[in-house]
Amino acid sequence: MIPPVAVDLAYIVSAILFVFGLKLLGSPASARRGNLFASSAMLLAIVVTLLEQDILDWRTVALGLILGSLIGAVLARSVQMTAMPQLVGIFNGLGGGASAVVAAAEFYRVTGAETIPVSDGATIALSTLIGTVTFSGSMIAFGKLQGVVTGSPVTFSLQKSFNLLLFLAIVGIAVYLGSGVHDERFYLGLLALAFLLGVLLVIPIGGADMPVVISLLNSYSGLAASAAGFVLGNNILIISGALVGAAGLILTQLMCKAMNRSLANVAFGAFGGVDGAAAVDDGDKQVRSVDAEETAMLLSYSGSVVFVPGYGLAVAQAQHEVRKLMDLLEERGVTARFAIHPVAGRMPGHMNVLLAEADVPYDRLFDLDEINPDFERTDVVVVVGANDVVNPAARDPGSVIAGMPILNVDKARNIVILKRSLSPGFAGIDNELFYMDRSMMFFGDAKESLSGLVKEIRELG
Ligand code: TAP
Repeated sequence: MIPPVAVDLAYIVSAILFVFGLKLLGSPASARRGNLFASSAMLLAIVVTLLEQDILDWRTVALGLILGSLIGAVLARSVQMTAMPQLVGIFNGLGGGASAVVAAAEFYRVTGAETIPVSDGATIALSTLIGTVTFSGSMIAFGKLQGVVTGSPVTFSLQKSFNLLLFLAIVGIAVYLGSGVHDERFYLGLLALAFLLGVLLVIPIGGADMPVVISLLNSYSGLAASAAGFVLGNNILIISGALVGAAGLILTQLMCKAMNRSLANVAFGAFGGVDGAAAVDDGDKQVRSVDAEETAMLLSYSGSVVFVPGYGLAVAQAQHEVRKLMDLLEERGVTARFAIHPVAGRMPGHMNVLLAEADVPYDRLFDLDEINPDFERTDVVVVVGANDVVNPAARDPGSVIAGMPILNVDKARNIVILKRSLSPGFAGIDNELFYMDRSMMFFGDAKESLSGLVKEIRELG
């Protein structure tokens, strides 16, 4: 048994480590350290809680830690980078589910009584409600991203009214149980309706918007954990849950802002189904097409090159090729940099993670605000599988992406665009950039095109 003062001290240390961990996660350069801080905080919190409660002896705690670490290590090694949003979705779902199970266990611990203290009733009802919505919503989000559930928005008539009625019914039951009534039928009703609400809230959202939803569900899982902390009277669970809740909400807001969409538009807009579904009517517009040899000459004799990676880089897994090209250009005295748009790809930090995998130094990566003023002085921009994030249509008030901040690559002296066709990206709209005089289309899979460029530049000697 650990003395209470030592437990409190360990919880304070753990909370401080969580806060610093989150802070360090804010930059790719310190993110690994941030992860280490936060996971150490979690380890400390779990070990101290289990030993303090005197429920388990240290052998069981050690066994759980080894098993958990093994599962985590296997997942971290085997899950593809592009499948990361699904994995986070499952984690959120399990977090929410665990909070609901804690609340249910507390509810069923009371036997024979018709009422329980209001504080217990309210926290149990809240934890059950948020935890269950998070669980079922996250499972649907996982299914959509994994292709098990249709990625297209599922809508039916009077859906919003039905959801509103369902929500009001749930609030009614939660308030009734929260007043301290210990009634199993109502409790099971709350569980079932909250499960249904989670499903119904997520099915009308398009598959490609799922990363935003997952971030929001992440925030819910934190709130559920915080509520479970109140149920158990455990301070570190309340603090860490609140931190997850706030961080998830901030991330959701940042993603919405970078897409210039409101959270309501993501939740109710039924925007975007399966990626690249819409076809482009390119009418009589002409594009200029180039091959590896021409592009290699252009790049080798330029002074400055900016690479703009997008979702296509992830699809093609071309991060190592782009790194090789960067190295070759630098050897020839060309300044090579990367412009990173906050929502390029399909998940927060997608491009940073891919480029880190290829060991691209952090000082070559530039955010939108940092690099935008430099495009006019850039000799060549190489767009690698990006589309919406460089689409000048965002400056047109009538466009569906109106107002979305973009990388101003159309201001550069030459623009080479690596993609397989003229198909649109996530937003499903045409891109005027492809038809500009200074633009050149280099058609093909990004990895193959980049390998071709590397080969040509090496041959130039
Ligand atoms: P997109 O606009 O989706 O365009 C990606 C382009 O990559 C496509 O036009 C596609 O053209 C090309 N591509 C696909 N596979 C390729 C391959 N193997 N080789 C070469 N090119 C390939 O991507 P983006 O510019 O990165 O913009 C991201 C979009 O996703 C934004 O609209 C954003 O709002 C949205 N979104 C982002 C997030 C986060 S958090 N990042 C979350 C939700 C939604 P082809 O088919 O012609 O090759």
